[in-house]
Amino acid sequence: MKYRLAPSILSGDFANLGEGIRQIEAAGATDLHFDVMDGIFVPNISFGIPVLKSLRPFTDMFMDVHLMITEPIRYVDDFADAGADLITFHVEACQDAQDIETTIGAIHAAGKQAGLVINPKTSEEELYPFIEDLELALIMGVQPGFGGQGMIDGTLEKAKRVRDYIDSHHLDCDLEFDGGVKIDNLDNVLEAGINVIVAGSAVFKGDVKANAAAFMDVIRKHADV
Ligand code: DX5
Ligand code: ZN
Repeated sequence: MKYRLAPSILSGDFANLGEGIRQIEAAGATDLHFDVMDGIFVPNISFGIPVLKSLRPFTDMFMDVHLMITEPIRYVDDFADAGADLITFHVEACQDAQDIETTIGAIHAAGKQAGLVINPKTSEEELYPFIEDLELALIMGVQPGFGGQGMIDGTLEKAKRVRDYIDSHHLDCDLEFDGGVKIDNLDNVLEAGINVIVAGSAVFKGDVKANAAAFMDVIRKHADV
């Protein structure tokens, strides 16, 4: 299994995004987690298509786009064209199962990886009807909308159940975790079977390169075991 660190630039310095990216690249991070918020699905507004478009030629990092927007189908092609490699959207932001299937189909038709994400209060069972068609399942460790929150109890246990499901069904689906990951709980996150680790404030607050390097050290040790 391939382990990836996906720092979330939501917690970065927006006046120096390029510099933050160079630092996480230098530390060995391979993915960039790009949190898109619309002020409706979540009570916050972040950034969107033009920012992704500017960053795309600046880095070869894998662009992991997390859409926290209502009716994500409306913007799949725009984010694909702007340079997303993976587009992940919320079960809770869709109208019904048909809408989810159509959105996954649109992401694949655009030639991108498709991810589906569930909020802390949503059961993992909501993922299973679609999981065979997904490249990635994402489990939220916090209520989406803001970086720097504490991980909600029970979310890692839920992730572990999804890992067991993926393995027992021999699925080729990455498992990502987003929210509340710190260097102190990273071992627990890895032990739950997460292979794509999002970290926002824990990487971007303070010495970015040193923080990302510390994360990579723990991840490499785990991957070697
Ligand atoms: C929350 C976002 C997260 C967030 C994680 O709405 O989806 O990606 O930036 O931030 P931390 O790692 O600080 O909890
Ligand atoms: Zn996110």
